[in-house]
Amino acid sequence: MKNNMYRLALASVLFTGAVGLSSSQRPPAEKGLKDYYQAYFPIGVAVSPQALKNPAEVALILRQFNSLTPENDMKMGPIHPEENRYNWGPADAIVDFAQAHQLRVRGHNLCWHEQTPRWLFKNADGSPVSKELLLRRLHDHIDTVVKRYKGKIYAWDVVNEAVADDSTQLLRNSDWYKICGEDFIAEAFRYAHAADPQAVLFYNDYNTERPGKRERIYQLLKKLKQAKVPIDAVGLQGHWSLVEPTEKDLRATIERFASLGLKVQITELDVSVYPWEKDRRARRPGESDAYTPEMQQKQTAQYKLFFKVFRDEVKYLTGVTFWNISDHYTWLDSYPVAGRKNHPLLFDENFKPKPAYYEVVNF
Ligand code: G3I
Repeated sequence: MKNNMYRLALASVLFTGAVGLSSSQRPPAEKGLKDYYQAYFPIGVAVSPQALKNPAEVALILRQFNSLTPENDMKMGPIHPEENRYNWGPADAIVDFAQAHQLRVRGHNLCWHEQTPRWLFKNADGSPVSKELLLRRLHDHIDTVVKRYKGKIYAWDVVNEAVADDSTQLLRNSDWYKICGEDFIAEAFRYAHAADPQAVLFYNDYNTERPGKRERIYQLLKKLKQAKVPIDAVGLQGHWSLVEPTEKDLRATIERFASLGLKVQITELDVSVYPWEKDRRARRPGESDAYTPEMQQKQTAQYKLFFKVFRDEVKYLTGVTFWNISDHYTWLDSYPVAGRKNHPLLFDENFKPKPAYYEVVNF
């Protein structure tokens, strides 16, 4: 109750300028994405603790979203920088904010080949660890992190991006794979389930709509299901663009994974105004990074189509999360190189809804 009053007050101060009006004079709190999609699925957003200190971003989050994903702060490198030291502060700040405002949290992530801590794959003398020790470290990490947030985090991306982009391989040739073979995947799910049997456990990946990669992921998930590994769902990251995925591929992907008895979420949605590139890059000399009317029009059409498909597939889809809040900050501007401005989200650099927003909420 107290939280709801705080949300309403904050929303009216920041969005309507209605300071000092009595409740009968105040305009009704305006609806956000989460309200339009209340009968469908939660609408989430990836955040940093810094964003949760910025009043404009806080107002936008509270009005539009009802689920949070920490963009970086629960990954193994940031949260577990040394073997015997956890860095809880930033992750706790996000979970505390979510609790204070009754938002769900998706945990991201427990096992990934990127953003790993330096100590993880090595012994004290610098030699590579054995499979047995690496699995013990994975167990201890998952057990500690999942138990800390038990009851506060409803879903975890347990294994992230383990499938290869290369069509000749099933699994990515990561340090996890080199040391453990494929066993680390099933074990990660078992450890997470033992730590919190209520948590919804995800395998999460990108380019899941491309038929080749979709099939490789399908083979992995089928094997896990057959071996009775406790996996509940698959996350389609949704780092899409003006040119992909097609409606056919998107529907086929959701339905193919659902046929394994898995739920599906879109976990990291954004629609880049540039074609997807494996090696993202800086702006080249003379190259424009203007957000043209054509780009905006195509992007609006893409968002409209994607949300139509999401609504149609609601019996399989249990959530849609955007990867960042607004075009003010998107990982696509700066990862891995700075310099080429992107505009992939529903809110512009001034936190105002873009034309795509209205297409998403008017249905
Ligand atoms: O925190 C350090 C800071 O201390 C340092 O000074 C600075 C200098 O480079 O780096 C900061 O860390 C950066 C971190 O983001 C926080 O801003 C890392 O360099 C940078 O690599 C990291 O990028 C993140 C990327 O994952 C890492 O792979 C992006 O923010 C994050 O959006 C992105 O998220 C991933 C999902 O987890 C998985 N799916 C794909 C998605 C996009 O790549």
